[in-house]
Amino acid sequence: MNEEPILTSPAKVLSARGNHAAEEARNLPRIRNLIAVGSGKGGVGKTWFSITLSQALALTGDRVLLVDGDLGLANVDVQLAMGPERDLASVVTGRVKLADAITPFDGGAGAMDSEISANAGRQLRGFDVLAGRSGSGTLDGMNRKQIALLCTELCKLSVLYDHVIVDLAAGMNTHMMPIFQQIGRVLIVVTDDPTSITDAYAFLKSLVTRFPNIDIDIVVNRAESDKAAEKTYGAVKRASEHFLQFCPQLLGAIHNDKSVASAIRAQAPLLTRHPQSVAADNVRKIAASLRPKSPRGLI
Ligand SMILES: Nc1ncnc2c1ncn2[C@@H]1O[C@H](COP(=O)(O)OP(=O)(O)OP(=O)(O)O)[C@@H](O)[C@H]1O
Ligand SMILES: [Mg+2]
Repeated sequence: MNEEPILTSPAKVLSARGNHAAEEARNLPRIRNLIAVGSGKGGVGKTWFSITLSQALALTGDRVLLVDGDLGLANVDVQLAMGPERDLASVVTGRVKLADAITPFDGGAGAMDSEISANAGRQLRGFDVLAGRSGSGTLDGMNRKQIALLCTELCKLSVLYDHVIVDLAAGMNTHMMPIFQQIGRVLIVVTDDPTSITDAYAFLKSLVTRFPNIDIDIVVNRAESDKAAEKTYGAVKRASEHFLQFCPQLLGAIHNDKSVASAIRAQAPLLTRHPQSVAADNVRKIAASLRPKSPRGLI
């Protein structure tokens, strides 16, 4: 990108209201082990990656909470074929406390056929899920006060886990400002689609300018090869270095792999359904590189 990409989408341009929310959130502490998975463009694989990363970390023995933070179109529960009775919607309406809305996920159908059974004698290593909704409507209508309450509760919960992974909606939602203020690290998922690259830069710019202390890494998804992934990362990195004087790191690359769609169709996580696939291997590598960097506690 020779010229700075024009940020046209309202979702990507921060409004005065967003500024205000960020201001309000400034006093909240950042939670080291709270990792958000975001993107500029939608449909790049955030939800699938959040689930697979959670499972990869859990299989190493870490305690993981996966939060469906896509408040408008929550679908972690769909990809995992879960029918949670309690969810973030029931928390927001005051029916249950955040801690009581957690649903354990044990690896899903077919877990015993996978690498998990190869670890005979060891426990099935699942993770906990905070689902977005269970047919009780979307969470789009949450106000800032409700979001702030969720953040406080999430902060308390995070000490019980090694990693809290939050699957975000695409782009920068001004409602989510308090959450960004608390996030320790953001993984930006990008594909080689030029609009995905441009939008990843726009998202990155929003983060860097609003939250200068946040750790930001790039994950290239659906790459045709490692070389192609480097090229995609290079495009984001060059624009960021040139216009923002900020160099995001490449955390890892995930290849385009038909096993991913197959696992999603079966509503089973990839490491359960196709543990030997290339994409599974790619995500395990990313999880391994992430592990030592997620100490618990506040920053
Ligand atoms: N590595 C991959 N290889 C092949 N297909 C993939 C890969 N990653 C994701 N996909 C495909 O991309 C689709 C979209 O994935 P997903 O729903 O996780 O995206 P998303 O970024 O969460 O979307 P949204 O922005 O709508 O929340 C999946 O249904 C899957 O088929
Ligand atoms: Mg999603």
